[in-house]
Amino acid sequence: MQIRLGILGLGTVGSGVLDLLDRHRAFFRDSLGFEFPVTAHCSRSQASLDRFAGQAPFLTRDPLALVSRPDVDVVLELAGGEDAPRAWVEAAFAHGKHVITANKALLAKHGQDLFPLAERTGRFLLFEAAVGGGIPIIRTLQEAFIANDIHGLACIINGTCNYILTEMTQKKLSFQTALKDAQALGYAEADPSFDIEGTDSAHKVALLASLCYGKYVDYGSMSVEGITTLSDVDIAMAEEMGFAIKLLGVVSQDREGRIQANVYPALLEKKHQLATVEGVLNAVFLKTSAVGAILLTGAGAGKLPTASSVVSDLVSLARQLATGNPKVQPMGFFSSRNRADLRPIDELETEFYLRLTAVDKPGVLAKVTAILGEEGISIRALVQKPEHDPERVPVIFLTHSTKNSNVRRALKRIDALDIIQAPTQVLRFYR
Ligand SMILES: NC(=O)c1ccc[n+]([C@@H]2O[C@H](COP(=O)([O-])OP(=O)(O)OC[C@H]3O[C@@H](n4cnc5c(N)ncnc54)[C@H](OP(=O)(O)O)[C@@H]3O)[C@@H](O)[C@H]2O)c1
Repeated sequence: MQIRLGILGLGTVGSGVLDLLDRHRAFFRDSLGFEFPVTAHCSRSQASLDRFAGQAPFLTRDPLALVSRPDVDVVLELAGGEDAPRAWVEAAFAHGKHVITANKALLAKHGQDLFPLAERTGRFLLFEAAVGGGIPIIRTLQEAFIANDIHGLACIINGTCNYILTEMTQKKLSFQTALKDAQALGYAEADPSFDIEGTDSAHKVALLASLCYGKYVDYGSMSVEGITTLSDVDIAMAEEMGFAIKLLGVVSQDREGRIQANVYPALLEKKHQLATVEGVLNAVFLKTSAVGAILLTGAGAGKLPTASSVVSDLVSLARQLATGNPKVQPMGFFSSRNRADLRPIDELETEFYLRLTAVDKPGVLAKVTAILGEEGISIRALVQKPEHDPERVPVIFLTHSTKNSNVRRALKRIDALDIIQAPTQVLRFYR
């Protein structure tokens, strides 16, 4: 069976897909019975098209010209962006094409329209590569764990942040130096805000939360905190306590069926499996009803890992088409009519780490502890770090389990005190 491909985007992932299709061509043809000729290429610049000249008969710089071609059966959307690719995917469906994408930003922003449209038009919209790069988490949730309830999910899903946190811990670097190193190595963009402020993680966590609980989780309704305010004091304190700091996506569902999905930097005991995930690696930790706890970890990005997931979607689609009666993966639930009413982070109950930046003078601790007490927060430990600058002394409070709303109210009052010199750093414990 022949399935003709239009490849939209010939950058890191697109070139990786061409590479893997080439390497496995004989196996796909001889053992699986599938051929995947590439009939059209699209890239923004002529230079990119020239680099792949001769590998496809039709070359264009216009995505809409590619998605409307009669000799394309499946469009691989590997260009990126949010609004422009939405129009390409809609046009592809209108012309009867299936779409495979690696684009989490597109799905997080427009998936609630595109998935129902795919169902209505009987087209596939597959996206294994969009979350966790080479980690097969989408199909794991959709297929492998179909006989499990998901009791909870926690993930490290942004390699840039995990690399920065690992460097800060292992090499005792400041956040800024670790970020610069990540940029020099190509792990962080020139404008890294999308990664370090947690937005990229939120896009992926919203998709995972939706798959876990069969509702549309809007990433815009999630509480999202990044890693930009973490300091070497936090990293050193975590080390001293036997903990690691990771940017986590945390997902769960309560007894009433309300989903909680948030992104925040968290303290994890070093013996927790997620704490051992270092550098640019990604990981998804699942608590499930039948299998129990499981960790999937591996390359969350990169040319071949991401391309591996794209090609795996392609073969999965080919198998469906070969049946003659393809079953479109039911993602219709991912629709604004089925929007999850997310449980606000204020209702989250956990232990907290609070690093205050205070002036070194008598009475500071009494004022802060009084406010914590008034807001119903019980203190487990208090550490004052020596600091050369008496105007900015780090004071760390560890709390017993308490509601996020209590901490929010307390910090509003504490950070307004004239003895407090900077907004308090908050970390939650994940157990
Ligand atoms: N890289 C990864 O490790 C990774 C991992 C997971 C998911 N993803 C996702 O995969 C997608 C592609 O990422 P990438 O890293 O491969 O990006 P990339 O290296 O920047 O390549 C993007 C390609 O798309 C083309 N392109 C961009 N906008 C276009 C437009 N408006 N019209 C036509 N062509 C356009 C670019 O053309 P020019 O080069 O000519 O500008 C380039 O060929 C993104 O959605 C990304 O989020 C990437």
